[in-house]
Amino acid sequence: MTRAEWDPENLPDLSGRSYLVTGATRGLGYFACEQLAAAGAHVLLTGRNPHSLSAAKAAVKRSTPDAAIETLLLDTSNMGSVRAAAATARARGRLDGLLLNAGVVHPPKQRETVGGHELVFATNVLGHFALAGELLKPLAAARGRMVWVGSMSTSLWRHLPTDPELREGYTPWKAYVQSKAATTALALEADKMLRAHGVPVESLVAHPGYSTSGRTRGVRGVNEPSRLTRFLDNLQAPITQSKEQGAWALVRALVDPYAEGGSMYGPALVARGAPRRATPARGTRSGDLGTELWRACETATHVKWPFERARRAAS
Ligand SMILES: NC(=O)c1ccc[n+]([C@@H]2O[C@H](COP(=O)([O-])OP(=O)(O)OC[C@H]3O[C@@H](n4cnc5c(N)ncnc54)[C@H](OP(=O)(O)O)[C@@H]3O)[C@@H](O)[C@H]2O)c1
Repeated sequence: MTRAEWDPENLPDLSGRSYLVTGATRGLGYFACEQLAAAGAHVLLTGRNPHSLSAAKAAVKRSTPDAAIETLLLDTSNMGSVRAAAATARARGRLDGLLLNAGVVHPPKQRETVGGHELVFATNVLGHFALAGELLKPLAAARGRMVWVGSMSTSLWRHLPTDPELREGYTPWKAYVQSKAATTALALEADKMLRAHGVPVESLVAHPGYSTSGRTRGVRGVNEPSRLTRFLDNLQAPITQSKEQGAWALVRALVDPYAEGGSMYGPALVARGAPRRATPARGTRSGDLGTELWRACETATHVKWPFERARRAAS
C-alpha cells in the first residue's frame, strides 16, 4: 500500500494489535469494531449497557466468527466508570489505539450528570479526556494512537466552546456542536503536548460526514431502524451514507500507517464518500482554545495526563 492508496474494505493485517472503542454498542462505534476485528485486531468493545454490549459482541462474532473481542462496561459521562474501566483495560495488556467515539447527539431532558457536569460535554469530551489520560502509559508503551471524533457541524455552525458547560444560553444543538468543536481542538492540543513531552503517541481527529441508521444494513440487536426511519433517511440519500461507511474515516485515522498525528480524516465529499485527509474547522485550530479547554478538562476531571511516566514507559 502506498501513501495515497487506502481501501477501507481491505484493511492492512492488524493481527497482534489491540484497540479500545467507546460507544461500541451501535452506530459508528459498532461498525468500526466490526472492521477492526475483520482485519485481525483484538478489539475491546466498551459501552454503558451490558445487554447492548452482549448484542454487539454477538453481532461482531456473526460477521467474523474467529474475532478476538472482549467487552468492558464504560459510561463516558461518569468519571468513576471511566477510572474503573481504564484500570481494567490497563490490566488487560497491550493497547495500540483508542477510538474515542461515544457520543450523545440528542441529549435527554436531564441536563446534568451525577458529577454535576453538563451531560453532552461530560459524555463527549470529559470522559474521553480522562480515559485517554488514564490509558496514556500503555498507549505509549505500544507507540500507539488515539482518535477523537469531531463533526462537520463544527464547520457549519460557529459554536466554539468558550463556555464549555454552557452556563449561559444552553440549547441541545449548541451543546452538541460545542462538544464536537472541543473534541477537535483537544485532539490537536493533545498531539502538540505529546510531541512537546516526547511521548510517542499520535493524536488525530476524524469525522464521519452524515451517516444515518436508516441507510445502514440491519444488524440484529445493533441496527434495527423502523420502516419510517428507513423511509425518512432514504429521502436524504444524496447527502448521507451508512454508518458502516461513516466508520471508514474513523478506522483509517486509527490504523493507516501513513496517517500523521495532528491530522484529520473525513469523507471525500464531506458528508459522504471514501475516507480522506480533511481540514478541521477554523476556530478549532486556535491554540488558545486548545490550551483553555485542556485546563478546563483537567479541573473538571481531576486527571492530569502522565506525560513523563508515559515517555518512560515507551523507552
Ligand atoms: N452519525 C453521524 O452522522 C455523525 C456525524 C458527526 C459526528 N458523529 C459522532 O460520531 C459518534 C458516534 O455517532 P453515531 O452516529 O454512531 O451515534 P449513535 O448511533 O447514537 O451511537 C452512539 C454510541 O455512543 C454511545 N453512548 C452514548 N452515551 C454514552 C455514554 N454516556 N457512555 C458510553 N457510551 C455512550 C451509545 O451507547 P448506547 O447504546 O448505550 O446509547 C452508542 O453506542 C458520536 O461522537 C457523534 O457525535 C456522528
